[in-house]
Amino acid sequence: MIRKIVEGVYNVGAIDWNRVLFDEIVPLPQGTSYNSYLIKGEKKIALIDTVEPEKAEELLRNLEELKVDRIDYIVSNHAEQDHSGSTPILLEKYPMARVVTNAKCKDFEMDLLHINEDKFMVIKEGDILDLGGRTLKFIMTPWVHWPETMTTFLVEDGIAFTCDFFGSHAATSHTFAEQYDRIYHEAKRYYAEIMMPFRQIIVRNIKKIEELNPKIIAPSHGPAYSDPKFIIDAYKEWTSEETKNEVLILYVSMHGSTKKMVDALTDYLYKEGVEVKVRDLIKANLGEIAIDMVDVTTLIIATPTMLAGPHPSAVYAAYLVNALKPKAKVIGIMGSYGWGGRTVDILKSNIGALRAELLEPLLIKGLPKREDYKKIRELAKKIADKHRQLGVMK
Ligand code: FEO
Repeated sequence: MIRKIVEGVYNVGAIDWNRVLFDEIVPLPQGTSYNSYLIKGEKKIALIDTVEPEKAEELLRNLEELKVDRIDYIVSNHAEQDHSGSTPILLEKYPMARVVTNAKCKDFEMDLLHINEDKFMVIKEGDILDLGGRTLKFIMTPWVHWPETMTTFLVEDGIAFTCDFFGSHAATSHTFAEQYDRIYHEAKRYYAEIMMPFRQIIVRNIKKIEELNPKIIAPSHGPAYSDPKFIIDAYKEWTSEETKNEVLILYVSMHGSTKKMVDALTDYLYKEGVEVKVRDLIKANLGEIAIDMVDVTTLIIATPTMLAGPHPSAVYAAYLVNALKPKAKVIGIMGSYGWGGRTVDILKSNIGALRAELLEPLLIKGLPKREDYKKIRELAKKIADKHRQLGVMK
């Protein structure tokens, strides 16, 4: 499917309606797309990013349909396989093409794709490439989400090709974002799963893109944005220091005691005026948990003690939280045990990268008793106090 962005600029990539998992961990409930953009200048033809190798045939078919018999430049914004994996196939079909990218990306592609060094044209920040009546400018936007990531700006048309940055895992035949609520959700999911660990660097990159004053943002996943402000503002919101008056409780319960604690905390927090999201780690979707993490103020991990430590699902959750580095300001550990163990120590050792304040853990023996409910109530009050001190609740 060829999708026209403007006259002479086409999305010739592939829509992956059926893919359900990315990186063997990230769920894709809406599929995804690998956007590849053909730009026709008066003298030169450039292709921005390619597609997953298994979708290369679709890309080649689209190029044939547009009667492209020559590609001069394959611009590579990012070395990951879903955008560069088909470059060797393209180079076989168009042997005169040069791969245009930065030095770091070149090194990655030599290692990951075994592309010969003489195929590359290395560019750096601010360099331009004249296509004849159309100019590409290269802007380094590192760590969205690899160290080599960059953006290519088509100056005359005001189109920023941002690759993963501002993307969404959404298979759609819409060239431009139309269902804004849906795309907001999918872009937030993408941000949460892929970009959130690099939040502070991303703030600088948002500024660089905003300074280009683009008319269109065309990422390499999901639809393009004819209203760049929509996605730039969304990214500003997600990457800001501001959090919401919300607590996210991630829990697992084997025989119901930890669940009773979670239910009680949920109820007490609500009475204190704090919003709560509760996710059962056995049933919850990782993507939804990641979205929940984006703007909560407090995170609670609740687990029973088994085999002298936390339930493995709670360890997984702690590891995930630590890796995704949400901007939560407060974190708590709670749960029920039978005869002791190292639950708190093990969980604490898995969240060392977080800057959040760790509350006094609350572990109780067996089913919660009257005095335990008092402690849970105290915990809810403490969280509400923290939210007031942080200014997220009046
Ligand atoms: Fe869409 Fe980092 O690859």
